[in-house]
Amino acid sequence: MTITEPLLAVAGLTVRFRLPDAEVHAVTDLHLAIRPGELLAVVGESGCGKSVLAHALLGLLPGNATVTGSALLRSGAAPAIDLLTCPPRQLARQVRGRVVGLVPQSPATSLTPVRTGRRLLVETLRAHGHTRAQAPAAADRLAAEVGLDPADLDRYPHELSGGMAQRLATALALAPDPPLLLADEPTTGLDRPLVDHTLDLLRRRCDAGAAVLLITHDLTAAQRVADTVAVMYASRIVEHAPTEALFDTPGHPYSAALLDALPQRAFRPVPGHPPMLTDLPVGCAFAARCDRATPACRVQPAFTGTGVGRVACHHPLEHAELRAEVPA
Ligand SMILES: Nc1ncnc2c1ncn2[C@@H]1O[C@H](COP(=O)(O)OP(=O)(O)O)[C@@H](O)[C@H]1O
Ligand code: SF4
Ligand SMILES: [Mg+2]
Repeated sequence: MTITEPLLAVAGLTVRFRLPDAEVHAVTDLHLAIRPGELLAVVGESGCGKSVLAHALLGLLPGNATVTGSALLRSGAAPAIDLLTCPPRQLARQVRGRVVGLVPQSPATSLTPVRTGRRLLVETLRAHGHTRAQAPAAADRLAAEVGLDPADLDRYPHELSGGMAQRLATALALAPDPPLLLADEPTTGLDRPLVDHTLDLLRRRCDAGAAVLLITHDLTAAQRVADTVAVMYASRIVEHAPTEALFDTPGHPYSAALLDALPQRAFRPVPGHPPMLTDLPVGCAFAARCDRATPACRVQPAFTGTGVGRVACHHPLEHAELRAEVPA
């Protein structure tokens, strides 16, 4: 059996932000690989570094950021490009919106205010091979695909609700049919039927051969469509597992705590608060909130392995133990 080469292979991605009197550890030593036809969800509480990850891959970080590591993008027969060292002009012309699409977290602020949704969408389609005659019908089809009434394309961004702007941003990201899509909280502001509609649309794109990195704080969304789930905590991936395994038998106490917080489970919030990314502890960053912590956890980092199957914990949950806790 031949294993498909990753379309994107990220190794050791680390992002720091310089502030006048501190340094923000936004992403630390992050490894992930994503193949055509695969949907990888990155989940975690607000502020753990998910959006910074997406922005780092697309060269969209501000000037106070320092980025290290590598992010090799292989598309077609062309040599791999390292997104982290790629010249900004090349990223803008050859990669962003072409090979790698982004559904941004705050579409209302990223949509050009002086053009209607239709004009934005038609321009994007025209820039990616649709003729003047084809583009309007293709725009209507895309609007319908994302669950937007084509008539709403004639509105300006400020006339759209948050959920409509979100769907327009998704349509714009899908228009060039990119082989890799970074979807950063693509279901914000949508009601549950539209959330499911958007997730299923991403899944269909994957099934047609695209790779999708879904960034979300909504575990139920990840469970619905992801092949594997990477759990981020305080700038690091602490567990990466096949979706079913993560939801049935999480190995990291933080993953288990996140699952416990779901309304359909124990509905028990994760105790305490995440640490400041300007002041991370030397040992495990979850130690202050973890009921399995031992003195060693507070002094020794718990970084083990990379890729699917990784659990960065000194005392991971044993499956037998978990089964005992699950009510019959
Ligand atoms: N330009 C910046 N300067 C300093 N800190 C930043 C900057 N952008 C993001 N951060 C910090 O990086 C951390 C991760 O942010 P983010 O990736 O947006 O989190 P989320 O997981 O909610 O998407 C947060 O602590 C945020 O405050
Ligand atoms: S390393 Fe220790 S403190 Fe951290 S999650 Fe594992 S058991 Fe808890
Ligand atoms: Mg975010």
